[in-house]
Amino acid sequence: MKILTHKNYNEMCRAAADIILNQIKLKPDSLICLTSGDTPAGIYKLLVEDAQQGKVDFSACYFVGLDEWVGMDKNDTGSCTNFLYETFFTPARIDPSRMMIFDAKAANLDASCAAMDNFIKEKGPLAIMLVGIGMNGHIGLNEPGADFNSYAHHSALAPVTIEVGQKYFTHQTQLTEGITLGLKHLQEAKIPMLLASGIKKANIIKLALQGEVTNQVPASIFQTLSSAYVMLDEDAASLLVH
Ligand code: PGA
Repeated sequence: MKILTHKNYNEMCRAAADIILNQIKLKPDSLICLTSGDTPAGIYKLLVEDAQQGKVDFSACYFVGLDEWVGMDKNDTGSCTNFLYETFFTPARIDPSRMMIFDAKAANLDASCAAMDNFIKEKGPLAIMLVGIGMNGHIGLNEPGADFNSYAHHSALAPVTIEVGQKYFTHQTQLTEGITLGLKHLQEAKIPMLLASGIKKANIIKLALQGEVTNQVPASIFQTLSSAYVMLDEDAASLLVH
């Protein structure tokens, strides 16, 4: 993995957006996995501006959404899919035929996972897989204990994820299960990209990047990914030992 530390959040976002732009220039029909959360919001704002200014054309790209809270869809304010529509898909005018989003309301969630895995097999490999890091080291909704060899799956949420996840909603929301791309997808992506900003992520970044590689800290898998980028701001990187 290549760790790139930027002076602040805005510079981190610009650098991450530039890697995405570069990939699309090389391969206009790239398959890109987008994550939701506070961390990537600035990147999507830049990508939308870049598209409006004609610096990039997303029309040939394919997109997948990294994860979703089971039981929610794009109409649920605060859901992962709602966030991706609001911050990127709608302002960047991405055609729905070019994206694959988990059906997290399906009675058969295994079928939703299979549909996602098939889309990635068909349009892939993933050129860029953008992920954030949870306070417990989760990647997407691959919680501590997740199998490094998993593709799309659904599983129970960790208590800390249920607690921290409340920040995306305006009122107390019941969260129990998540549906997510797997850590095997991350290993098969051409460029896996981990984003973290702010002092609150410093401890988990230190543990994930300089601690033991273990599925108890899913983000520690980045230590094994030679083509990965870890994009940090100075606060998130502040506990790393050089
Ligand atoms: P955040 O979420 O960007 O809102 O901190 C990160 C994550 O849980 O993946």
